[in-house]
Amino acid sequence: MIVLIGAEKGGTGKTTLATNFAAMRAQEGHEVLLLDTDSQGSATYWSRIRDDKGIKPAIYCAQKFGRVDQEVSKLAGKFDDIIIDAGGRDSEELRSSMLVAHKAYVPVQPSQFDVWTLSPMAQMVSKAKILNPDLKVYIILNRASPNPSVSEAAEAQEILADLEELELSKALVRDRIAFRKAARDGLSVSEMTPPDPKAVAEITELYKEVFHAG
Ligand SMILES: Nc1ncnc2c1ncn2[C@@H]1O[C@H](COP(=O)(O)OP(=O)(O)OP(=O)(O)O)[C@@H](O)[C@H]1O
Ligand SMILES: [Mg+2]
Repeated sequence: MIVLIGAEKGGTGKTTLATNFAAMRAQEGHEVLLLDTDSQGSATYWSRIRDDKGIKPAIYCAQKFGRVDQEVSKLAGKFDDIIIDAGGRDSEELRSSMLVAHKAYVPVQPSQFDVWTLSPMAQMVSKAKILNPDLKVYIILNRASPNPSVSEAAEAQEILADLEELELSKALVRDRIAFRKAARDGLSVSEMTPPDPKAVAEITELYKEVFHAG
């Protein structure tokens, strides 16, 4: 499956989710390519740490810029999954990835959640759907408050009701230090010892939604 993690906004958790998904998918025995299309190279940096430490399973990571759709189509036969990390801006990489992705996930922090930041994304999606009509695009609430009494999901749902191109993923990820620690060590939160059970539960729910739901 080709999964794009992209957003127009920077720092919302794209690389965090892309690297966690890549490691979790590889742990399930799949050949995964993590495709870093962001010139900041954070996903590449993460995978280098992982390689240097000899962490298994190894994850293939490649960088590609510009029109990535042709390259992704070529590589699709060589891997079970391609997870694309697209940089935090409206870019050729983000737009061209949408042409070949099966699913796209847009992490958004609840504090930045408003219809104005998402409507350009919805427009981009509707253009991509002309060429890739089966594309499904989901918003993921990331770095939600660790205090479950704050109903950020309900507010988000209300805002998204007006944007028919975008659906809200059922699972959400809260702000947990484990995600920052795992990133530093070239790991997913599911590989850390000792584990943060809440972080693991949240990312696992999301992972299942991405890779195991229709
Ligand atoms: N759920 C989370 N809990 C705690 N920290 C998080 C979480 N998600 C992301 N972060 C942290 O937030 C920062 C930004 O995350 P990340 O680099 O994944 O965002 P990004 O969207 O890839 O940014 P950019 O647009 O710069 O590529 C990082 O320091 C990351 O460790
Ligand atoms: Mg990033």
